[in-house]
Amino acid sequence: MERRDCDAVVLFGATGDLCYRKIYPALYYLVRRGILAAPVIGVARQGCDVSWLVARVRESLKAFVPGADEAVVSRLAALLRYVDGDYNDHATFDSLHQTLGAAQRPLYYLAIPPSMFPVVIEHLSESSSAPGARIVVEKPFGHDLASARALNQTLHAHFAESSIFRIDHYLGKEAVQNLLFFRFANSFLEPVWNRNFVASVQVTMAESIGVGGRGRFYEETGAIRDVIQNHLLQIVALLTMEPPVNTAGESLRDEKVKLLKAVRPATPAQLVRGQFNGYRQETGVSADSQVETYAALALQIDSWRWSGVPFYIRAGKCLPVTATEVVVDLKPPPVNVFGDLSPEQPNHLRFRLGPDVAIALGAHSKRPGPVMTGQDVELYVAQQQGDGQDAYEGLISAALIGDTAHFAREDEVEAAWAIVDPVLNSGVSVATYTQGTWGPAEAERLLHGPCGWHNPGAKPEDWARSCGQGGDE
Ligand code: BG6
Repeated sequence: MERRDCDAVVLFGATGDLCYRKIYPALYYLVRRGILAAPVIGVARQGCDVSWLVARVRESLKAFVPGADEAVVSRLAALLRYVDGDYNDHATFDSLHQTLGAAQRPLYYLAIPPSMFPVVIEHLSESSSAPGARIVVEKPFGHDLASARALNQTLHAHFAESSIFRIDHYLGKEAVQNLLFFRFANSFLEPVWNRNFVASVQVTMAESIGVGGRGRFYEETGAIRDVIQNHLLQIVALLTMEPPVNTAGESLRDEKVKLLKAVRPATPAQLVRGQFNGYRQETGVSADSQVETYAALALQIDSWRWSGVPFYIRAGKCLPVTATEVVVDLKPPPVNVFGDLSPEQPNHLRFRLGPDVAIALGAHSKRPGPVMTGQDVELYVAQQQGDGQDAYEGLISAALIGDTAHFAREDEVEAAWAIVDPVLNSGVSVATYTQGTWGPAEAERLLHGPCGWHNPGAKPEDWARSCGQGGDE
């Protein structure tokens, strides 16, 4: 495939939080690495000029890139251009077209509310700014299966699938990409990576923060749409997909889609929804809000490899720690020759996906001494501080060269929506939980077996199973 780099970056939503926190710092690193030297055009309705944008970018770098190199900051500042105007006004897109000048392959980044996506896409097309361009679309990609399909149709009316980059920043995280690498760069996992050896799988995305200033946004999304339909299902897909032929081209996405299509659509009986106490007092949140800030789902994968293995996934705000972890529990040995081995502490593999990164193998070993009793140990296979390269930096860099491998394809987002669609408006009530606990006690009933949820520890090396003790009792 011929590599054609983008020759301009256009940021819709230049005033927004995403640009401020994530995109401007990512652009700084791209300039520093020599990957970005093309003009960066911010679009917003501020009634001001490029000096405002330069100030905003500098402010962002001061906050999020400690010790930023002034020479790099100046190089980035020199790339900045600004177009002021309303997204509903055709004139905004005419001035954008002019500002783009001779650029042939701009990268449009839609860091704007989803309701504005169609308006901007149509205007780009009407102002003849779509041909040759690439477009990055932020999540949430749609509100449900039907709206995701409609958005795909709108995009396809003006952009080829190979030019569309549906961003899920989890796919840019080192630790998430390492799931793929660890599974398929080693052969020792493959013999046990199936229904014969795996008892169950848990994925937890815990956040100690609440909804911050995003109450209004959260009221329209909730935990299922915000992180389960995308981040968590992507993790499940990478954990369970069949080996891709290679990681270039479409093979990786083909395998993820095949897997997601094999996940049985969720039912209300498999869902627990929770809301932290105090959520209804957040700015922008309705006084009788039924939106979930916590969701736990039990899923089944109807595939040759995974049939019968329960997958438990959950995500929540205001939980005791911020940590994303996968625990794969292995079945016990066929005969317990040591008598005291507890079936409640199975062997496991643990993938800590953030904020620190670790892979650990949990096993029973002999406790030193005259008696044959066991102790549970964890062997660290890999451990590193933090998340290394920021996900946005890697993903924007990939979009600039047209590499779609770590973006969600049309059929991939639709397959993920199809899994959660049946429970989006299914009337499952929200149970209130106390901030700083592991969510509603009801979530315990989802799990079958002697042991409950594994609650991630504050540090990657903390390992303790809750064995039914979790939840807000
Ligand atoms: C975003 C969600 O996609 O991911 C947020 O909208 C969430 O609600 C965030 O806080 C978590 O991302 P990270 O990279 O901090 O795990």
